[in-house]
Amino acid sequence: MKLWGGRFTKPTNRLVEEYTASIDFDQKLYEEDIRGSLAHVRMLGACGILQPDEVDAITAGLKTIREKIRAGEVTFDIAHEDIHMNIEKMLIEEVGPVGGKLHTGRSRNDQVALDMHLYVRARTLDLVKRLTALREALIAKAEAHVDTILPGYTHLQRAQPVRLAHHLLAYVDMFGRDAERLMDSYKRVNTMPLGAGAIAGTTFPIQRELVAEELGFERLYDNSMDAVSDRDYLVEFLSAASLIMVHLSRLSEELILWSSEEFGYVELDDAFCTGSSMMPQKKNPDVPELIRGKTGRVVGHWVSLVTTLKALPLTYNKDMQEDKEGIFDTVETLDGALALTAPMVAEMKVNADKMRENAEAGFSNATDLADYLVTRGLSFREAHEVVGRLVLSCLQQGKSLTDLTLDQFQQACPAFEADVFDKLLVENVADARKAGSGTAKERVVAVLDLKKKEIDET
Ligand code: ARG
Repeated sequence: MKLWGGRFTKPTNRLVEEYTASIDFDQKLYEEDIRGSLAHVRMLGACGILQPDEVDAITAGLKTIREKIRAGEVTFDIAHEDIHMNIEKMLIEEVGPVGGKLHTGRSRNDQVALDMHLYVRARTLDLVKRLTALREALIAKAEAHVDTILPGYTHLQRAQPVRLAHHLLAYVDMFGRDAERLMDSYKRVNTMPLGAGAIAGTTFPIQRELVAEELGFERLYDNSMDAVSDRDYLVEFLSAASLIMVHLSRLSEELILWSSEEFGYVELDDAFCTGSSMMPQKKNPDVPELIRGKTGRVVGHWVSLVTTLKALPLTYNKDMQEDKEGIFDTVETLDGALALTAPMVAEMKVNADKMRENAEAGFSNATDLADYLVTRGLSFREAHEVVGRLVLSCLQQGKSLTDLTLDQFQQACPAFEADVFDKLLVENVADARKAGSGTAKERVVAVLDLKKKEIDET
């Protein structure tokens, strides 16, 4: 018999049961569901809506069920559709008809909203911790490579030399913003929907503030219709998650490129790579490849949920049940990716010599040559032209700018003097960028300190 069977004259079609049930995936919410019910029943008691013995019986029953589920002793029944009704059905079996009083003043609509708020709230904090661990791993690597210089790239063409620490600190800030974004949406996640009932509130004299306090919610919904139909906080979560995956994917892509023989900048630890079934020499960067690949599904979950919501009339519609799998999968995908990226970064080997070799070889000091001429009175456009021609002639001769003689420099432009050679050394090129957010050693060291402090304060 269904919990809502009263007004029906026929059993549900088996295919309909299978099609509408969510128990296969929403059983993940059992902890949140029982926690919410325990708070709800206690409040019903405090408000005199249930008698103390009823509260005690229901509370004991819910705890027993929780133990059984934790111990893996429960098989859920698709006939009871979802986690909420499976638990309520078990409760009635466990404690008798008094179990039927749990749902007083409540609907599955505000109940499922409460469960999802609880679930996403806890996972948000877990993910922020993971982000912090990743930022720490990146900072530690950066600290070890303040003096490692590689070419910075634009258009994937060598652009200007940068310190590896500077490159890694860019990711530290990207993941820092990600944590900020999660914590910003946390305010809205941490809002309590219970008390909205199915749509319009409840006729019972409930005190939802008691539930909010017990469950640690900072705010309550002001409008019951909004409370049961709001999925904004899930969209925000998926959007923040998508950006985290995009950032992880960009980092992964660089590690994949950098660990190719063509770059040879890093070697991922053996423990983070796999081999080929056919080619004995292969060591494949499967982990960053999969992280890059899984980014698509997280972005997909975000698109999927906004699309589901876009034309829904107020308030609860069964469409909303589609929010769950994407959220669960996003949490798991993100958790796995973050958990792996931190040690992968920590344990990768950096080939500083190869980085330097490329930084020195690729005209990444050409801007500095132009800047030098500007300090000698040329306009930047004139200087750009002179240096462009020097680069072209070097390219034709297979040379780099540091191979030119003072004579050759002065033929190109009489403003060149002997101090020009100093300006071309990659260290000096990097350290000339002291202003603002540049890659000079003193800046990088200062920013490293700042980031360590930021982390200590979180
Ligand atoms: N399983 C449902 C969901 O996840 C729970 C809410 C159902 N409410 C309803 N009135 N059918 O959305």
